[in-house]
Amino acid sequence: MPYHTILAIETSCDETAAAVVQNGTQLLANVVASQIDIHRRYGGVVPEIASRQHILAIESVVREAVAKTPGGWSAIDAIAATYGPGLSGALLTGLNTAKTLAWARGLPFLQVNHVEAHMYATWIDTTVPPQFPAIALIVSGGHTVLAVIHTHGQAERLGGTLDDAAGEAFDKVARLLVLGYPGGPAIQTHARAPKSVQRLPRAWLHGTYDFSFSGLKTAVSTDAQLVSAQLVSAQLNGDETALLERRAELAYLFQESVVDILVRKTAAAVAAIDAKSVIVAGGVAANGRLREALQKKIRVPLHIPPIPLCTDNAAMIAACAYWHPIDGNLAVAVDPNLPFVG
Ligand code: KG4
Ligand code: ZN
Repeated sequence: MPYHTILAIETSCDETAAAVVQNGTQLLANVVASQIDIHRRYGGVVPEIASRQHILAIESVVREAVAKTPGGWSAIDAIAATYGPGLSGALLTGLNTAKTLAWARGLPFLQVNHVEAHMYATWIDTTVPPQFPAIALIVSGGHTVLAVIHTHGQAERLGGTLDDAAGEAFDKVARLLVLGYPGGPAIQTHARAPKSVQRLPRAWLHGTYDFSFSGLKTAVSTDAQLVSAQLVSAQLNGDETALLERRAELAYLFQESVVDILVRKTAAAVAAIDAKSVIVAGGVAANGRLREALQKKIRVPLHIPPIPLCTDNAAMIAACAYWHPIDGNLAVAVDPNLPFVG
């Protein structure tokens, strides 16, 4: 591996992040400036605001990461950055900062695919990394992909979402249930099992490793509209307990459907290719119910990042740049639609 200590920058969505990782696993510095509080009032990420916030935050975030690194700049061998996929204006800030620093300091520049990098959060601070071939389930706000990882840089796509990403479905359903943004943590917190046996539909798409979450969202929306209509009369009576209970049940039933589909398709892929390990990463991998169901169902070693490394961060970008280095040149442009497997 050519570069031991890598400074990475991540700005593909709404986190401005910089991190320094040694030998692809040892986390020396990890700084994340989240914009969640700014976007919350709009119910989702506003790309224009995200771009501006990255510009405001990037310098201090990078300075802090370098300051935390023993030896500072002199310890850093290479600079990496996400160049896609993501919001183009957001990506531009991180990519241009990384390229400029690499040029000014005479350091190599490495370009990183954000979706691939999510997996590498499982390499951070571990003595037992995933063994290949691995099945990777990457579930975030923008992506839902199931793939076989033969070795570093050699991924084979098995399937992915045909409509909404898993995290996007959490966010949209949370909005329908008036639970706020980001939806995943809100749904997880509010979910309560109904007293009677109930279930929402599951789109199995049999014979494929693909996913579809838009029907499930529609199922919730029909029920959510009924509930909100009832809320009006309940509020008039000064009693909204029944509505809040139903909302909690819908959150639970939605979460159960998503978790069931993700876990079963992952388990089927493990059996089909006789995988040696499973990697689950991306923001939705922070979900407690998903983690619990995977632990129960997956029979090979399961690698899920610690919760703070599931959502966007630059540590995973640095680790990816170490294990699968792609030498970038200073002309590389952002690629908002960069596929995970080409
Ligand atoms: O990986 P990430 O930070 O950004 C993208 O690359 O898209 O993922 C953000 C997504 C959001 O949709 C958020 O609702 C979801 O991850 N998420 C969760 C949880 N925490 C974050 N989904 C379900 N349960 C959670 N606990
Ligand atoms: Zn992400």
